[in-house]
Amino acid sequence: MSSMVLVGLQWGDEGKGKIIDVLSEKADVVVRFQGGNNAGHTVEVGDQKFVLHLIPSGILHEGKDCMIGNGVVVDVLGLAEEIADLEKRGFSVADRLKLSTRCQLVFKYHRLLDGMSEAKLGEDKIGTTMRGIGPAYADKVNRVGIRGAALRDPVELEKLFRAQAARANDILAAHGVELMDVDAEWDLIKVAAGKLGPMVADTVLDVNNAFTAGKKILFEGAQGTWLDVDYGTYPYVTSSNTSSGAACTGGGLAPSRIDHVLGVYKAYTTRVGEGPFMTELDNAMGERIRMLGGEFGATTGRPRRCGWFDAVATRYAVMVNGADLLAITKLDVLDDLDTLKICVAYELNGQRIEDMPSDLAEIAAVAPIYEEMPGWRCSTKDAQCWEDLPEATRNYLNRITELTGGKIHILSVGPKRAQTFFVD
Ligand code: GDP
Ligand code: IMO
Ligand code: MG
Repeated sequence: MSSMVLVGLQWGDEGKGKIIDVLSEKADVVVRFQGGNNAGHTVEVGDQKFVLHLIPSGILHEGKDCMIGNGVVVDVLGLAEEIADLEKRGFSVADRLKLSTRCQLVFKYHRLLDGMSEAKLGEDKIGTTMRGIGPAYADKVNRVGIRGAALRDPVELEKLFRAQAARANDILAAHGVELMDVDAEWDLIKVAAGKLGPMVADTVLDVNNAFTAGKKILFEGAQGTWLDVDYGTYPYVTSSNTSSGAACTGGGLAPSRIDHVLGVYKAYTTRVGEGPFMTELDNAMGERIRMLGGEFGATTGRPRRCGWFDAVATRYAVMVNGADLLAITKLDVLDDLDTLKICVAYELNGQRIEDMPSDLAEIAAVAPIYEEMPGWRCSTKDAQCWEDLPEATRNYLNRITELTGGKIHILSVGPKRAQTFFVD
């Protein structure tokens, strides 16, 4: 591998952080390319648990370089806090992390605007993480955002921050929402900017120089394909492209330089936030999977909605990402179940359809058509190779990958590093 893009193939929380951590051992540079601190990537190292929001999960391997690319929206206070937390826990960060001059900065007013927008939507709310992601990307596209480069120049940053804060406060005032205390916020921002400024660099040059020098580059996606602002269940999506193409536009390496796309999916399905969920189990079985899988949000703590594996939507995700390789996670969560269901097609208006519709009304109207397979009713938690897996587990994996396309590269049977193995 000299360059690999890792993306989630469902609604996020597929276990990307854990897989990035495992792959980082073989990589030289790990690059985040989209999203912001709406992400929560969990990595367990020994008996320690880390939840990374903006910093690439590769940071937990000393000696590896990490970059936050131009496609990311970076909460200034959030990033400073995340760095301080990791440094407190003994990791070197400041000397290994670079932040793009072109990334967009997220401030408190973005979070307030996010909250305001959700409140206005009422019952139709998206169920965002309230991290200001939508308003920050809106500012970027509207060409009024503040970019990473400003962190190097406190005078310029203050000028830009106060102008944008005033604009945001006008909007909040017009909607009767409590305003941001600009002076108090600036006091916090200037301290954080002092810490982050020295890390700011042209990461596009850095990533291309690393590639030319033969270094192995791993791109860490956040969220998942069904949350992609184009390909997901719009408008119940995040505000960035979460699919593999975004690694090029948000990470700075051209498509011709990407060797592999590794798609990560869980052996079942979860979703946090609102929006349609084709195979949702809003019943005791859903609750059972939530408990077995510890399905609670890593960023917000919200219970995740759970359901059966959806091969139709996952096949679509494999296609749009061009995922040639797969990592399948959380297989162990299904260990105790008698019967497993796989959604192999949908029924829409009395017709069987084989592909995921693109229109929300149709997505919301489909009924899953299931195929049943027997469970394996024994532990897979200690499996270290394909042959260690029970036959029923192998049959399940063969069936879902036959339906989705893509070749199994990695299997994960627990949250720990050691509970992972490569499949040839
Ligand atoms: P991410 O956002 O894709 O990085 O995923 P999250 O960290 O939000 O959620 C995945 C959760 O599942 C975390 O708590 C991981 O520690 C855990 N996890 C990852 N892989 C496995 C696995 O194979 N089995 C089990 N039981 N847990 C896993
Ligand atoms: P990781 O990287 C799961 C969801 C939110 C909401 C929608 C929009 O850990 O997989 P946003 O705050 O982005 O405007 O919210 O997207 N969402 C995630 N769901 N995992 C994530 O990240 C998510 N990031 C955002 O719950 O439904
Ligand atoms: Mg997560």
